[in-house]
Amino acid sequence: MTIERPAARPANPRFSSGPCAKPPTFELNKLAGAALGRSHRAAVGKDKLKAAIEGTRELLGIPADYRIGIVPASDTGAVEMALWSLLGERKVEMLAWESFGAGWVTDVVKQLKIDAEVKTADYGQIVDLASIDFNNDVVFTWNGTTSGVRVPNGDWIADDRAGLTICDATSAAFAMDLPWDKLDVTTFSWQKVLGGEAAHGMLILSPRAVERLESYTPAWPLPKIFRLTKGGKLIEGIFTGATINTPSMLAVEDYLFALNWARSVGGLQGLIARADANTQAILEFCDQNDWIDNLAEDPATRSNTSVCLKFTDSRIRDGASFAKAVATRLEAENVALDIGAYRDAPAGLRIWCGGTVETSDIQAMLPWLKWAFEAEIAAQAEAA
Ligand SMILES: Cc1ncc(COP(=O)(O)O)c(C=O)c1O
Repeated sequence: MTIERPAARPANPRFSSGPCAKPPTFELNKLAGAALGRSHRAAVGKDKLKAAIEGTRELLGIPADYRIGIVPASDTGAVEMALWSLLGERKVEMLAWESFGAGWVTDVVKQLKIDAEVKTADYGQIVDLASIDFNNDVVFTWNGTTSGVRVPNGDWIADDRAGLTICDATSAAFAMDLPWDKLDVTTFSWQKVLGGEAAHGMLILSPRAVERLESYTPAWPLPKIFRLTKGGKLIEGIFTGATINTPSMLAVEDYLFALNWARSVGGLQGLIARADANTQAILEFCDQNDWIDNLAEDPATRSNTSVCLKFTDSRIRDGASFAKAVATRLEAENVALDIGAYRDAPAGLRIWCGGTVETSDIQAMLPWLKWAFEAEIAAQAEAA
């Protein structure tokens, strides 16, 4: 049996969850103004680094008294810098509902050997957010990229908390409203929602996080790459563009380009609307097709960036190989690249819906998903 291919293809088949699609207007020659071959400590380099910091503040609405630093090693670097620099002063609660959150649990429990209270939920679910004691430091991931489960908002975070909140927001920043008054440490990487380049992480500190840095010294040694203080004082230069070590000025230029593009689509609210529209197209597709569903069980927790899907058709014999075969068909047709579920996640698909993805491309891809599903069901029957 031949199943007919849809007539139209997405203009851009890139739906990877990181590195994510570049902004639709991106061309390499738009980075021609990069300060290449110049010192990042010369005025030209420092001004660009400063523009990256202040552009982030402007677009994300980050309060003037929060510090924003560009740090090494992408989002992972920013998160680990925070964990190693801040934790150990008081009890810690670690919240995890997918593999990246689980990775931070490993860091804290196995590497730092902190006696933390660990709260986890299976893929598709979220921990009980009402059970958290904010006298403790609390570490969590705003949007679980590998399960497509996010916190619905920040209402569950206490205003009068004594502990710090440390939030990995890498697949949330620029796609979801982040309540800065609830977040003491926030991290993200350029390669996610804005479709920038990897390599650098953003570390955003509230005044209370700075207070902790200046009043507490962890018991363990800190490599230079993690050090945010000197002689008990914050190294302010890190938060004005004097990076700890050498950044890529090409990546910086690319981020500045992405920030400008973000302004052109209406800033943060425009980006959120784009991600919401992309996600809505997929949710409607799931409603119309009874063989596919969102991995996130509670609609209030469904991501609008890393939308994770599971196949629910009872004819499917081996879920993992079926999902892989569907993704392979879509890739071979060049209609959807890199949409297999994350390696540690349940079998299925993950379709990036952040603002750099065009809704018209999601809409053009979905009939292909139906085609690939039907083709694979037929192939499975033939093989039987
Ligand atoms: C929630 C989350 N945390 C951390 C990371 C790691 O990010 P990076 O590779 O930018 O360090 C990712 C990457 O996908 C992620 O989704």
